[in-house]
Amino acid sequence: KHISIIGVPMDLGQNRRGVDMGPSAIRYAGVIDRLERLKYKVEDLGDIPSPTPGRNQKDDESNLRNLNEVAEGNINLAKTVSDSFSKGHFPLVLGGDHSIAIGTLAGVSKHADQLGVIWYDAHGDLNTGETSPSGNIHGMPLAVSLGIGHEKLTQIGESGPKIRPENIVIVGARSLDEGEKELIKEKGIKVYTMHEVDRLGMSQVMSETIDYLKERVQHVHLSLDLDGLDPEEAPGVGTPVVGGLSYRESHLAMEMLAEADIITSAEFVEVNPILDEKNKTASIAVDLMGSLFGEKLL
Ligand code: ARG
Ligand code: MN
Ligand code: MN
Ligand code: MN
Repeated sequence: KHISIIGVPMDLGQNRRGVDMGPSAIRYAGVIDRLERLKYKVEDLGDIPSPTPGRNQKDDESNLRNLNEVAEGNINLAKTVSDSFSKGHFPLVLGGDHSIAIGTLAGVSKHADQLGVIWYDAHGDLNTGETSPSGNIHGMPLAVSLGIGHEKLTQIGESGPKIRPENIVIVGARSLDEGEKELIKEKGIKVYTMHEVDRLGMSQVMSETIDYLKERVQHVHLSLDLDGLDPEEAPGVGTPVVGGLSYRESHLAMEMLAEADIITSAEFVEVNPILDEKNKTASIAVDLMGSLFGEKLL
């Protein structure tokens, strides 16, 4: 397999500076060597041009911060991801804040109808301008990909929904806003909150997730927000939430996905080196990529 690395130094989907350095931090942590050692052909496509910050103000009508800039960056990203995927390559996107999932999913879904998504995250990212407490677009990409949200975002790639609610599985949720809870119920989205992870164990959560998606779709995208992990282990994130998934649970999840061989694109987002301790969070991201791409001890 051939992996295309795509950096997205986007930080306008949220309030804290530094997450634009995520792609560099992940490259420094050795992602290319790590994947080449697993015998993949790895090509680094560099960084997607990301617009410079505006005034970080909320658009009065839409309650969205940096709407035009976030849209512009995602239009660029969607094109690059689409080109890579259409060549049969595996797009591996390095963030950047989670608003970039809008572009990644727009790019992949062009070539994969019935695209499955595993959303590994403390959050649901299912807000709209109406339900968002913050106006930050990184809290909205999953809704946007369902076709719900501001037109400037939902029309990226092509207009309309990129994924269907029944093809989504959220893992690790522990912080959901009221509007997100309603949307989850209304659309019947499958969610393994921390409660289910504690009860069932990650092994069962992942085998259920894999069986569920395998029945429904040909392609599965993994969208991994590093804040899905516990902030004690992965401190370099802008919106940490206590009580998260462990390093071990996360490796197990990646190993099971590798074994099931269902993931055809992925993104690792929200790595913020300014908030990190000695690039620990970027290193964890690279360790998890190793497992996702089949690394084994013996
Ligand atoms: N739900 C909160 C919001 O809408 C936090 C979202 C955090 N999202 C993320 N990708 N880290 O502002
Ligand atoms: Mn090739
Ligand atoms: Mn999150
Ligand atoms: Mn997220």
